[in-house]
Amino acid sequence: MNNKELIDLLEKTRHLDRQQWIALLESYTDEDRAYAAHKAAQTAVKVFGKEIFIRGIVEFSNVCRNDCYYCGIRKSNANCERYRLTKEQILDCCDAGYEYGFRTFVLQSGEDKSFTTDKLCDIVGSIKKAHPDCAVTLSVGELEYEDYKRLFDAGADRYLLRHETANPEHYRKLHPSDMSWQRRMDCLKQLKEIGYQTGCGMMVGAPYQTVEDIADDLMFVERFKPEMIGMGPFIPHKDTPFKDKPAGSYELTLFLISLCRLMLPDCLIPATTALGTIRPDGREHGVMAGANVIMPNLSPMNVRKKYLLYDGKICTGDESAQCRACLERRMESIGYKVIITRGDHKSYDKDSSLR
Ligand code: 5AD
Ligand code: FES
Repeated sequence: MNNKELIDLLEKTRHLDRQQWIALLESYTDEDRAYAAHKAAQTAVKVFGKEIFIRGIVEFSNVCRNDCYYCGIRKSNANCERYRLTKEQILDCCDAGYEYGFRTFVLQSGEDKSFTTDKLCDIVGSIKKAHPDCAVTLSVGELEYEDYKRLFDAGADRYLLRHETANPEHYRKLHPSDMSWQRRMDCLKQLKEIGYQTGCGMMVGAPYQTVEDIADDLMFVERFKPEMIGMGPFIPHKDTPFKDKPAGSYELTLFLISLCRLMLPDCLIPATTALGTIRPDGREHGVMAGANVIMPNLSPMNVRKKYLLYDGKICTGDESAQCRACLERRMESIGYKVIITRGDHKSYDKDSSLR
């Protein structure tokens, strides 16, 4: 089968086997990529129309107990100036975001144990009370089942926890030995079981990543059926062990967005900030390759430069005070419209607004 036939098969059956994934990933051309992007964008338009969901991210703490080799806020980075927002600051960000039209707030942080589950439940509950028509997404790393459950009961709707790689050996090359691939997988399973709309994902072109690893990532996505998939290119950060590793491929990131869209048509797939960082119009191209979500920053301006997972991150300077207007223009320039909605996954749409 040639690559176009493989893409057709994926579109039709939403499945490729491992050998087929590897063959496609090893030999795709720009033309194949354009073919997949066209089909993926068509698929997204069938499901979502030409409408883009937005989420406001509040990066509320860059303190992290982990030491991932790729990440700029890892605990060993002494050059990272640490900060924590107060509950009031977090609520203020959400209030401001609400005025801009955001109906999902993503609370993201390093694994900062000073934000206990009690505290986080209080913050989530307060946001839901102030904005009952909004969804809250958490992205605060690995917790115990009990904590995930309590946060869900406090009103959290969604959870982002990238699996990073479906290959445990590859995982060990990206993380110190006190972090466990199995634990990450268990967390993801628990999140789904509890009832969160759950997001997994990986960095494209992470150091030591092979074509086989990506095939395994895609097969994991097929099995796990996440409601969301976050994928961006790996971008080195100057104060990490991976500072000299090459950045991931922009083109491969776009291709993988398209392949995931064809595999899971309903999935919420963002055009990530990392994609917009390696190319000025990366997020637009992400949407044209099948993404349907954009996640701009709602963090206070004075902390944005401190939440740097990788070098060169966009929207950290003064120019970004009006992310919302900027994105609206960007999306309109490619014929899409940013809409004011929670933007739930289809399977949660009916009753989730009542929770
Ligand atoms: N480049 C790109 N993405 C990164 N992440 C962390 N560090 C980097 C980097 N250097 C991603 C990881 C993490 C998510 C929050 O950000 O996949 O799960
Ligand atoms: Fe914080 Fe990886 S460095 S979770």
